[in-house]
Amino acid sequence: MKNISLDIRKADCFLENGTVKAFEQTIKEVQTALEKGTCSGNDFLGWLHLPSTTTEEFLNDIQTTADVLRKECEAVVVAGIGGSYLGARAVIEALANVFPACCKEENSPQVLFAGNNISEDYLSELCHYLKDKRFGVINISKSGTTTETALTFRLLKKQCEQQLGKENAKRVIVAITDAVKGAARAAAEKEGYKTFVIPDNVGGRFSVLTPVGLLPIAVAGFDIRQLIKGAADMEKACGADVPFTDNIAAQYAAVRNALYRNGKKIEIMVNYHPKLHFIAEWWKQLYGESEGKGGKGIFPAACDFTTDLHSMGQWIQDGERTIFETVLSIEQPNKELSFPYDEENLDGLNFLAGKRIDEVNKMAELGTRLAHVDGGVPNIRITLPELNPYYIGQLLYFFEVACAISGLVLGVNPFDQPGVEAYKKNMFALLNKPGYEEASAAIRKRLTEE
Ligand code: PA5
Repeated sequence: MKNISLDIRKADCFLENGTVKAFEQTIKEVQTALEKGTCSGNDFLGWLHLPSTTTEEFLNDIQTTADVLRKECEAVVVAGIGGSYLGARAVIEALANVFPACCKEENSPQVLFAGNNISEDYLSELCHYLKDKRFGVINISKSGTTTETALTFRLLKKQCEQQLGKENAKRVIVAITDAVKGAARAAAEKEGYKTFVIPDNVGGRFSVLTPVGLLPIAVAGFDIRQLIKGAADMEKACGADVPFTDNIAAQYAAVRNALYRNGKKIEIMVNYHPKLHFIAEWWKQLYGESEGKGGKGIFPAACDFTTDLHSMGQWIQDGERTIFETVLSIEQPNKELSFPYDEENLDGLNFLAGKRIDEVNKMAELGTRLAHVDGGVPNIRITLPELNPYYIGQLLYFFEVACAISGLVLGVNPFDQPGVEAYKKNMFALLNKPGYEEASAAIRKRLTEE
């Protein structure tokens, strides 16, 4: 079985000789600290050996619960935000047939995502859409107190109970939350929902291989065993004992830090397959929340090519030279379709007739890489042999471990997110949440003065 691969040659050529290699010692130390649990944020290292320690019994429990939802529901809503939804959405959208929309695989319930915004229109339209449908809910919140998710769960619980009756609703509502704390745990215990635990030592954005990702992915009909197998194989391939030059996580972490120190402050994750859009969204959260702190950190951005070559392409080719690009490339598409021949040839494209569409896409990819490198954009390439659960499992784990190494090399704690509290504090003060009286008075005074 092949592995995903990393090519940094077109980034390395922008750096002085030996720059990447110079990170070898620091990265070895960081890897040892991760293994020994002595790095900063060491109470959040539960993801590190998760793939290799996931048991068959645990996967059976997930699959059995997923099968109940698959049998009883036409639609399943995943209520969660940030790390409590992006991983599941990334995997499901990467694997699902694009049409019909919203990830519906044949014979699987439609998997919908909510609890990730506070839009009245979004939620009204969702409730309307679910009217008269047999739907279930997976309520995902580690803290169990996140406003977006709690609001959505309130609405959906009520509607599910009204449509199915309280007893039947209990069969199709599942909670994934802390083992003891939080409102989601309290509600689940009170109502007797099936629950899964988000381990204490796994932060939201590192939780895709826990029930947070696995249950929705299994409900959508995808092979969670292959996903875990891929991740477990990558855990070995990126282990601390693997030499620096062969360890793709160490190489990616090193080259990112080298580019950052050379003024490349923005990394653009690009794909040539729209199905990968949410893989980049998940990656943005993983790297943005892990590294962006203390006035430091690469800004993670994403583009879908060739679509965005017709919008952001100009900026990338020719704008401020503070960016580098990481391409997610897929060796073999899953489907086969050729460029059609046209008798009249009005568009002049008959020279492409008979070629696989993927060959044209690959030339767009190669042509763009060369153009962007010529335009001063370092290029990193990550190649997946094909898009299936096994290689996505490899990719997820690769990004997680590389992120931890990269953040520690940068000198930040990659496992906390103190910055996300600021907006919540203001929002609660503005909404007069009990306990926020002082903050409410202060923010109102500030608003009248501004
Ligand atoms: O990575 C994180 O920790 C965050 O993105 C959380 O996943 C997100 O804020 C949701 O939190 P919770 O699961 O507590 O509702």
